[in-house]
Amino acid sequence: MSSFKTIEWKDNKVIMIDQTKLPNEEVYLKCQTYEDVADAIKRMVIRGAPAIGVAAAMGIALGAIKIETSDRAKFLGEVNKITDVILATRPTAVNLFWAGKRMLRVLDERESNINQIKTRLVQEANNILEEDIEICRNIGRIGAELIKDNSVVLTHCNAGALATAGYGTALGVVRCAYEAGKNIKVIATETRPFLQGARLTAWELHKDGIPVSLITDSMVGHIMSKGMVDAVVLGADRIARNGDFANKIGTYSISVLAKSHGIPFYVAAPISTIDYDCPEGSSIPIEERDTAEVTHILGNRIAPDVNVYNPAFDITPSENISSIITEKAVVREPFIKGLSELIK
Ligand code: MRU
Repeated sequence: MSSFKTIEWKDNKVIMIDQTKLPNEEVYLKCQTYEDVADAIKRMVIRGAPAIGVAAAMGIALGAIKIETSDRAKFLGEVNKITDVILATRPTAVNLFWAGKRMLRVLDERESNINQIKTRLVQEANNILEEDIEICRNIGRIGAELIKDNSVVLTHCNAGALATAGYGTALGVVRCAYEAGKNIKVIATETRPFLQGARLTAWELHKDGIPVSLITDSMVGHIMSKGMVDAVVLGADRIARNGDFANKIGTYSISVLAKSHGIPFYVAAPISTIDYDCPEGSSIPIEERDTAEVTHILGNRIAPDVNVYNPAFDITPSENISSIITEKAVVREPFIKGLSELIK
């Protein structure tokens, strides 16, 4: 397990490690209201698809317990409004919408006592958190078998304990291989513009004693051409039915480079990241973020005032993927068949 808590429910508050402050400060944000949680997701105080799902569920529960009414219909209407606010925070990671649906399903349980519905919502949010840790452990166990001893694994963005309820998806695979005694080294890409690799992946692996080297995004091709990478393992924000997937901007370029150098390219993600309603990658909405993320680094302007693009994610076509590691099984080509079998 990691040595910190990404998010927890405590004394009717949601506590999360403030990822905008890492690695310089390890401080925790106390969310008192659902608006605080929505703001934290938007500002990326908490980020990473599974962690966003947990935060969304806890935000909905936090909003619900504060509703003061004895009218059941009014209560349900308010919970739906709160859910809409939470779901409008970020568009790409499907775990947000998955968690929202799961929380709303609690309202269909036909429980008439409002206090009991509130208790169930809090319980469901905590279940989502607990299950996520277990799911990541299973992803780690299944994925670690693909990683040979003495491997160098390249990862992008942060798909670690910070991006989940704990343990991580891609970094769960690394963590599990490492805990099993394999000699594993990680190369983390910096991940401009938000620097999740430099600030978060490097911090989390270093803190847990897993060897990590940091490179800038533009170094990937060179490092691969020198034979310095044995496998790529990274996470996903949304996987379409055919295996195409959205992940942090830069993932697509890494997949092309991995393919051209014959390096296995693994995607590690929970089944909740698969959007079975989405036929292919081109249907996945891509979040555009503030241009200041590109023109500035940690508050300092590094570019003149010109036109800027800032898509936060890109789409990698399934033909660039060696396999998708889930908590149930490793899925290989044909992905459309393998992914559909996961929910049979
Ligand atoms: O914008 P972010 O930091 O939320 O993006 C995160 C990623 O792209 C991760 O790789 C993905 O969510 C998987 S996290 C287990």
